[in-house]
Amino acid sequence: LLLGIDLGTSSIKVSIIDAGSKKRIVSKQYPETEAEILSVQQGWAEQDPKTWWSYTKTALAKANATGLYDPKDIKAIGIAYQMHGLVVVDQEQQPLRDAIIWCDSRAVDIGDEAMEVLQAKGFLASHLNSPGNFTASKLAWVRKHEPATYARIYKFMLPGDYLAMCLTGEINSNSSSLSEGVLWDFQQHALSDTLLNHYEIDKSLVPDLLPVFSTYGTILPQVADELGIARDAVVSYKAGDQPNNALSLNVFEPGEVAATAGTSGVIYAVTDQLLYDAHSRVNSFAHVNHQTGKPNIGVLLCINGTGIQNSWIKRMTANGLDYPQINEQAAHIPIGAAGVRVLPFGNGAERMFRNKTVHAHIEQLDFVRHTEAHLWRAAQEGIAFAFRYGLDILRENGLHPQVIKAGHANLFLSKVFQQSFAGATNVPVELYDNDGSVGAALGAGLGAGVFTDRKEAFSGMQHYATIEPTETALYDSLYADWKQSLERKLSTIS
Ligand code: XUL
Repeated sequence: LLLGIDLGTSSIKVSIIDAGSKKRIVSKQYPETEAEILSVQQGWAEQDPKTWWSYTKTALAKANATGLYDPKDIKAIGIAYQMHGLVVVDQEQQPLRDAIIWCDSRAVDIGDEAMEVLQAKGFLASHLNSPGNFTASKLAWVRKHEPATYARIYKFMLPGDYLAMCLTGEINSNSSSLSEGVLWDFQQHALSDTLLNHYEIDKSLVPDLLPVFSTYGTILPQVADELGIARDAVVSYKAGDQPNNALSLNVFEPGEVAATAGTSGVIYAVTDQLLYDAHSRVNSFAHVNHQTGKPNIGVLLCINGTGIQNSWIKRMTANGLDYPQINEQAAHIPIGAAGVRVLPFGNGAERMFRNKTVHAHIEQLDFVRHTEAHLWRAAQEGIAFAFRYGLDILRENGLHPQVIKAGHANLFLSKVFQQSFAGATNVPVELYDNDGSVGAALGAGLGAGVFTDRKEAFSGMQHYATIEPTETALYDSLYADWKQSLERKLSTIS
């Protein structure tokens, strides 16, 4: 059996897969407790890493309690995790502060400053991204503002490395993960001395590096016993949630494109070019199969405020209705939501707007004509238009998806969203019944050599539906209005 853990922003999911059988997914469980984002100040976003570990244990205990399998048969563990975060631990492997997570905007200025100095030195050509608001810049923030904490750091790491450390007692990472932190030099095929030196970060704080698919460690005996897992189980795969989502959809090769619409939204296009956007509106990271001399780059367009907007609006207006009920009502409203327009950018600085904070905006509400169902539809259409805006940036950079693959999950469960996405982007969407935790389990199987090749690993992948673009002329004209609203907002932000 293979265990996949998906450490998300709002929940932690685990899946158990039977590598041998056709049935594949043996158990899928979600803990009830929703992970909380701590926001001490505007623009900040932190989580207590210890809760990631306790939620993981709860989720696994629930999966084990189904009695559908014997946990002792779990041989390999894969971890997918929310990207770009920063965890710092001391020598005893204890977190020194809460994790600064991906949507925290505090390090934007630090990254901008670094870019001003480093740009002249061809930084983008070798790192493919500006340091932005990513892990290295967050660590530089801790160094500057919390020197006492910084002085006690033994290692810093990405969220998935932390979970693996809790499981195995080993601290390590890989080049894909470090590239998420803009700590990887693609020309040198090595850790970025340029950025470490610029931020005056000591190299000894960086974890040891292993290949993405490898043995990161054997589970600690006491952890194995606590979780009921075999004592020889290994962690054999770690990847950021977006490269892992691509893996879960069997997206590995140049030209293939994956998308997600969870808390954040992402279009992730694989290319063999060392491609970067001059304004870092899209970000290029090492894909799971990136190799020295044979680049496989995931070009990632991220929208911070996506599903998080949908869940906020539901919390505020749905009065106990669940997502299927909301989606059903939204589906009865005609395309265009009778003029209601929503900009979904309420989750911090947005990379595709050069790290500007735009906030969410609801426009053109009419108290006589509009109901909450108009708002629910407009919210999903607004997210689809944000994807169109992002896809146009990818197209500007020479990436032209012919088809986009996505898991049948989160916003892609909603017919309104499926149709708005395909219609607004004018690209067919293939939906599959795989998700991040299943992907992590498949990655574990590849890392541990349980599968002989990718073909075997993905033979159980279930195609759910293909959504063809329809009403594209109508979506084009609605998008033009939406974009005007956005540009008005952007022109008021310096
Ligand atoms: C990707 C990104 C987010 C996080 C969410 O670059 O910032 O999608 O991965 O966990």
